[in-house]
Amino acid sequence: MCVIGSGYVGLTVGAVMADFGYTVVSVDSDEAKTAHLQRGTLPIFEPGLDELIQKNAAQGRLAFTTDIQGAIRRADIIFIAVGTPSTPEGRVDTGAVEAVARSIGQYVNGPKLVVIKSTVPTGTTERVTRAIAEELARRREGGGHATTEDNAPSAVPADCDVEVASCPEFLRESTALQDFLHPSRVVVGVNSPRAAEVIRRLYAKVNAPFFVTTPINAELIKYTSNAMLALKISFINEIASFCELVGADVQEVARGVALDHRIGPSYLLAGVGFGGSCFPKDTRALDWAAQDLGLEMPIVQAITEVNERQKRGVVHKLRGLLGTLAGTRVAVLGLSYKPNTDDIRDAPSLTVVRDLLAESASVVAYDPQAMRHFRQVFPQTTFTADPYEAVEEAGAAVLLTEWQEFRDLDMARVRRLMRRPVFLDGRNIFDPAAMRALGFQYASIGRV
Ligand code: UGA
Repeated sequence: MCVIGSGYVGLTVGAVMADFGYTVVSVDSDEAKTAHLQRGTLPIFEPGLDELIQKNAAQGRLAFTTDIQGAIRRADIIFIAVGTPSTPEGRVDTGAVEAVARSIGQYVNGPKLVVIKSTVPTGTTERVTRAIAEELARRREGGGHATTEDNAPSAVPADCDVEVASCPEFLRESTALQDFLHPSRVVVGVNSPRAAEVIRRLYAKVNAPFFVTTPINAELIKYTSNAMLALKISFINEIASFCELVGADVQEVARGVALDHRIGPSYLLAGVGFGGSCFPKDTRALDWAAQDLGLEMPIVQAITEVNERQKRGVVHKLRGLLGTLAGTRVAVLGLSYKPNTDDIRDAPSLTVVRDLLAESASVVAYDPQAMRHFRQVFPQTTFTADPYEAVEEAGAAVLLTEWQEFRDLDMARVRRLMRRPVFLDGRNIFDPAAMRALGFQYASIGRV
């Protein structure tokens, strides 16, 4: 099989399928990234993935290439796992998926099953099917696009049956392997029972409900799942703001609410807002898709609005604690959008540091993994080798990511190092009473 796109999803699918015993070629157009992968260096930080990739590459089941033509021709199954980034206005840019579809149409040399793993707007599976068919028709008519050895229209074999299926991925960064191997369900959107059967066999070693539906339903299941989870977070964050005004504790409230099994305990941690490459992008995309259809979705819109307010609220809160931020040295603990990843895409830290700099504060930051990426966006930030160095002489500290390293901090030492012990715990990881007993001017999210 071949997996096109070497991001979190593509690399995980490729590594696991190789480990299942398939021969996998992982394709990416980025030559530098591919060269790194060929040498066994991962472009991302994802626990356990490098070992799995190295093992399967060493055993000859997993290879990396930029040669999309060769990879397509040799594969029976083609996974599309390229990125679907946001356009500046928040729509989905499916350009990379469409380009892959065209390549498949140009190089296909026999029956193939194409499985779309990328998160794509509804209707994409159908559009990809059409694009492949158009390229094939063009080749059959002899019009360009054929490969060197396939210039003649006859080079298109009679049996070039390409079926396209949707199989959205629900893995989370930082637990990608675990999530892929033990998902809550495998959703497949197909147009034929045969395609469903092929995918079922691929997932034979994955013990999870196998849900077969149409491609458009599968595409929408992915968006609905992410929007629903993001909604839970925005909702509990909104309740957290209410808690602050009435003197309630959002963690206690969430705990009490979660006992109702119809609601459940997941995704009810109040904080500085959600980030990452999925929730922010997918909720905005759903909103745009609805608008394009002339449908207003106020709940979906509110998910993003509340999240933006939550992120901006950090500096607002700090200003309330300090009076002015101008000239204050602020220690930022945590830059990645969540722990155990180096990913800063749409991370709350981007909004917080931007707002701090706009208020003329000086920012000293520490993150166990994400400083390399953050430096490229905010070179004016000072980065430190450890969290203690970051808080030294700081006039305030703000914790944005709940890394275990921060939970393990010697807070008495942190208190001694700070010039002014103002601590904003944006992930509610410390006990307010204990922090105040240590002498901190402590604030958190939705707790008094
Ligand atoms: C999310 C989904 O959880 C995956 O199921 C999905 O496959 C993925 O998006 C995707 O579409 O590719 P991910 O973005 O990796 O996964 O991370 P999560 O662990 O879900 O966290 C997302 C954000 O929500 C983080 O910023 C996290 O801090 C925040 N969060 C999460 C909260 O603020 N509160 C919570 O209770 C839970």
